[in-house]
Amino acid sequence: MTTPEVPEHGPTGASQRRGPFRVGDRVQLTDPRGRLHTITLSPGATFHTHRGYFRHDDLIGAPEGSVVVSTGDVAYLALRPLLADYVLSMPRGAAVVYPKDAGQIVAMADIYPGARVVEAGVGSGALTMSLLRAVGDGGSLLSIERREDFADIAQGNVEGFFGGPHPAWELRIGDLADVLPTAAPRGSVDRVVLDMLAPWENLDVVADALAPGGVLIAYVATATQLSRLAEDVRDDGRFTEPSAWESMVRGWHLEGLAVRPEHRMIGHTGFLLTTRRMADGVPVPLRRRRPAKGAYGEDWTEEDLGERTVSDKKLRRVRRELGRARPAGAAAGRPEADADDEVPSAEAED
Ligand SMILES: C[S@@+](CC[C@H](N)C(=O)[O-])C[C@H]1O[C@@H](n2cnc3c(N)ncnc32)[C@H](O)[C@@H]1O
Repeated sequence: MTTPEVPEHGPTGASQRRGPFRVGDRVQLTDPRGRLHTITLSPGATFHTHRGYFRHDDLIGAPEGSVVVSTGDVAYLALRPLLADYVLSMPRGAAVVYPKDAGQIVAMADIYPGARVVEAGVGSGALTMSLLRAVGDGGSLLSIERREDFADIAQGNVEGFFGGPHPAWELRIGDLADVLPTAAPRGSVDRVVLDMLAPWENLDVVADALAPGGVLIAYVATATQLSRLAEDVRDDGRFTEPSAWESMVRGWHLEGLAVRPEHRMIGHTGFLLTTRRMADGVPVPLRRRRPAKGAYGEDWTEEDLGERTVSDKKLRRVRRELGRARPAGAAAGRPEADADDEVPSAEAED
């Protein structure tokens, strides 16, 4: 991993995110219906739609938050895109980590200024930008991607966002398992972030690279990947007990008294799993809680899968309720009770 050179004039990318609009700036335009358009300011250029045009020169030199009106009388609000806007509008090769998950990764893996971080794969570079922001100019991020074409797209996106090469960033092409052992000395890495199909295949090299106490965080799309990774982390013996979660973000509609959740949301992106590197030679403390009976067996029962079993007695009663006429004299709304029936309660009836 290379030693970054800290630039003299403030943090990388900060200057191009401040002040009036300049030539070369990316500008996000919002039209009256909330539709977004992104342009790159160029002298003499025009922005056209079927409802007229305006000149880029009308925006160059104007402050962010200006409104420009087209010849068709459409008003566009002009702002520099935030990182989240940039990620969702930039060119993509592979699927990107959404901003909601990037935020979780930075916070929950405790990616701090000055940290030494390794990331694989890089895909379109979306997560890379959040990681670079978090480590800062004085940290280091080694990003490893096995597909050259994806790495190329990522480099274009990252450099487009920061306005050039980032001093903390090194991008290597190759497989994590081959590159990491040669690129980072054993025990030198503070955090490893994996976003790939089979992260469990790389646990060995990750364990070698991580410093004691270092964090591994992995982002996986399916429950089967999550299960495989968790079991392999446990089997490895050099990591603490893993923990996993997902995050769901639901937007809210805000209009007068009509303040309510949006009808639509992104229901699933991926799951996150974290674990930490034990000190060398120290066995992982045994879990106090025993796994559910059969959780690791071939013959799964409802109980193993966390489902509540229904007693034969309850089944007999339900069948009676469905299959026979109500006897005379039974209380309205409640079928005849057996002597051995339980006292009904919300819990028992569930
Ligand atoms: C979903 S994409 C990553 C997206 C990226 N995190 C982003 O936010 O734009 C997964 C990437 O991992 C790469 N990959 C998979 N296995 C890899 C490995 N063992 N070493 C390096 N890259 C790998 C794939 O080529 C792919 O580009």
